[in-house]
Amino acid sequence: MFFVGAIGAAQAQQPQAVFATKGMVASAEALASQVGVDILKAGGNAVDSAVAVGFAMAVTFPRAGNLGGGGFMLVRMAGAAASVAIDYREKAPLAATSTMFLDAAGAVDKDLSRFRHTSVGVPGTVAGLLLAHRRFGRLPRAAVLAPAIALAENGFAMPAALAESLQGRRQRFARWPATMAVVFKADGTAYRAGELFRQPDLAAVLKRIAAAGHAGFYSGTTAALIAADMRRHGGLITQVDLAAYQAVVRPVISGSYRGYQIEAMPPPSSGGVHLVQMLNMLTPFPIADWGHNQAPTIHLMVEVMRRAYADRSQHLGDPDFWSVPVAGLTDRRYAARLIGNIDLQKATPSDSLQPGRPQAYESPETTHYSIIDAAGNAVSNTYTLNFGYGTGIVAAGTGIFLNNEMDDFSAKPGSPNAYGLLGGAANAIAAEKRPLSSMTPTIVSRDGAAVLATGSPGGSRIITSVLQMILNVIDHRMDIATATGAPRFHHQWWPDHIRYEAGLDEAVKTALRQRGHTLKKVKALGSLHTVMRVKHGFLGFSDRRRSRGQAIGVDD
Ligand code: DON
Repeated sequence: MFFVGAIGAAQAQQPQAVFATKGMVASAEALASQVGVDILKAGGNAVDSAVAVGFAMAVTFPRAGNLGGGGFMLVRMAGAAASVAIDYREKAPLAATSTMFLDAAGAVDKDLSRFRHTSVGVPGTVAGLLLAHRRFGRLPRAAVLAPAIALAENGFAMPAALAESLQGRRQRFARWPATMAVVFKADGTAYRAGELFRQPDLAAVLKRIAAAGHAGFYSGTTAALIAADMRRHGGLITQVDLAAYQAVVRPVISGSYRGYQIEAMPPPSSGGVHLVQMLNMLTPFPIADWGHNQAPTIHLMVEVMRRAYADRSQHLGDPDFWSVPVAGLTDRRYAARLIGNIDLQKATPSDSLQPGRPQAYESPETTHYSIIDAAGNAVSNTYTLNFGYGTGIVAAGTGIFLNNEMDDFSAKPGSPNAYGLLGGAANAIAAEKRPLSSMTPTIVSRDGAAVLATGSPGGSRIITSVLQMILNVIDHRMDIATATGAPRFHHQWWPDHIRYEAGLDEAVKTALRQRGHTLKKVKALGSLHTVMRVKHGFLGFSDRRRSRGQAIGVDD
């Protein structure tokens, strides 16, 4: 059980975590959190609840909630020896090739990798949610799909944030009449906040899934509609690709940190490997004594991040295609070697570790939710279309936004993807391969029981956001609201600067510059949605960095 620390004066304004005795759902969207709670109240377990939230967010939070994308789910059933990792990451279509995004001059064509039908990986979300439900759920499939179907068919009052977000993307959507028809009214005008927003095509897709399960999406009408949209617009995904897609159960990445067990997502996510690798490197140091967000602490953490992300560029990729040295990377002896050349007074220039290139930035969107039920079953789920609304393309007749996850591959060695991440052969494009991800759904346990489920969107910044959550709670004894609200920072080896949020001490920044770091202020790093088990119940907290998030609890 975590000690819930006192809230310090500096955080006195921080909103409090929600408390409940019988379970908790924390997600980035209030209607979806309520769906999760309703399912728990109806006798569903945390997995039923998570599956229902996953389908509901495809309706209520279309910028990241999805049927046309992919993600990762970690499930820890009460009494089980370990969590189970469900990989429902998108796959490259059969016709994909390593050079498919290179133009005649050999340069990466970002339009092709990000905003066209060629950018789309074979969607995994429906397969993943259904696999989780089959394996661990208690309620019938129709029951976990019913709330999403109702929200799509009957509609819901357009939330102000969604109205604004859709309007903000009008230019990107304008290229695709099928998208315009879904997100704007028939006359092309935007929905105003509070107006009824219905998505009948999406409702029909969800009903086919409720009726026929996996086959209701990966074959039949929905698959035919997606494949037809691909054919019309030069995309690669065929009905054969869709029929072949399967979600995969993989061995979870496991590590320990100061008496807690840390479980997180294995490859094709880089998240779990590097989270454990960084925690291993940090273990020998008295982080708590050095203090939260103090110069020595940040300096050390940045050096640790730099080394982990350098390894990421070289060693991480889809384990079905590339032999990822997971055991080596997460070995404490390797961590001990890596920290050997950290100078506690001086930054290691990244180009002395590995060469790199500058980064580009594209507005991203992913979403995470965490659920723990009264029995102690825990789910930590992160899923995405990659960018907000993915490619921005809705496959005609489906209401489904299509991901642009193909951009997460390394299209060319040394050429950064949208998150400035570098890669090479390990993450090169190949038919049926899964692009490398940073999504890091995580479950922290003590004495065999889940005590914390957390995760975040944010592309490359996800892993370091989750790392800081864990240190804030375990080392710095913060409650989850304070731990979430505290200013974060990020380093990813290249570009060689510390990104930081408002709120870092001026003296700390000066001390970091004196150690040789370059600092760059950014708006927000990640957005954590966390549930924690405490003495008499559960605490939930949804990050305020992105609006509309809400933790909702279940009481008697
Ligand atoms: O899988 C990945 O690492 C990225 N596609 C995640 C994108 C993301 O988190 C965008 N969210 N803010």
